[in-house]
Amino acid sequence: MRIVSGIQPTGSLHLGNYLGAIRNWVAMQDALGPEDCAFFFLADLHAITVQQDPSELRRATREIAAALLAAGIDPARATLFNQARVPQHAELAWILGCTARVGWLNRMTQFKEKSGKDREGASVGLYTYPVLQAADVLVYRATHVPVGEDQKQHLELARDIAAKFNTDLAADVFPLPEPTIPPAAPRVRSLRDGTAKMSKSDPSDMSRINLSDDADAIALKIRKARTDALPIPATLAELDSRPEARNLVDIYAAMAGEPAEAVLGRFAGQGFGTFKPALAELLVAHLAPLNQRFRALLAEPAEIDRLLEQGAGRAREAAEATMRAVRTAVGFLV
Ligand code: TRP
Repeated sequence: MRIVSGIQPTGSLHLGNYLGAIRNWVAMQDALGPEDCAFFFLADLHAITVQQDPSELRRATREIAAALLAAGIDPARATLFNQARVPQHAELAWILGCTARVGWLNRMTQFKEKSGKDREGASVGLYTYPVLQAADVLVYRATHVPVGEDQKQHLELARDIAAKFNTDLAADVFPLPEPTIPPAAPRVRSLRDGTAKMSKSDPSDMSRINLSDDADAIALKIRKARTDALPIPATLAELDSRPEARNLVDIYAAMAGEPAEAVLGRFAGQGFGTFKPALAELLVAHLAPLNQRFRALLAEPAEIDRLLEQGAGRAREAAEATMRAVRTAVGFLV
């Protein structure tokens, strides 16, 4: 198994990102066998497909690296780095841009969503974004790529590009990467509105649990979270019309690592006056140690940079081995 995945260093981190991507990467790392390897990177080259403030990009890149390390990514077991430090990603993206067809990119739904009405005003980089993503995984000859549902189409494209490259050049350079969708990442909702996603862009900080929140902030936000006056029901169906209650039960289940039904089994008939303190305690037990490591790392940016450069060194070595085969297959004099 060669696992590769990336996350864009934009915005700050909350419980939704943690339960969606970060926790899953840590679990995959912890399950690596002796023959397996994992590459996890901050996709800074992807981030600049829309305009970024340079100092904000630097800040966010270090912050997400710190969160990954605090959550349990171990640089001794997984290779952690930022994409821009490994120039082979961009080099392979150019070559694969000559393999991919314009018609294939025109079918990418994320470009249509992200460019919105002003398609002519979108950057060329935003359009070719999926080609860079294909290069990200193929440059390490990835076999498994953990991504959310929204990235499946990009992974299908990476497979098509890999297959066409191998066929066109009669060379067996790339294995076809498999998308691995994480086991039911919960849909974490706003603590103020159970119908909206928990989001970094919500103006109310009370709507989300940030990975930078300490134990007091977590307890306060759960105590103030919107709910209703009814007790916890015995079945999930009874939560269908109670989005805020459903959200708190889902968060509890995800944190405890058990099905939502099991949580209902334990709390059915009790009110939120009992459930909320239990939820706060569970969140604090999981997140407080993470939060402490996170803050300690952020106070030492030079250490984060050192770890990222060390990871990039290993990544460049692995990527360069693939690039030698690619350059030869294409016919470059090297
Ligand atoms: N596009 C991905 C996202 O927005 C991030 C990403 C970039 C990625 N390169 C990747 C994910 C390679 C998996 C593999 O979530």
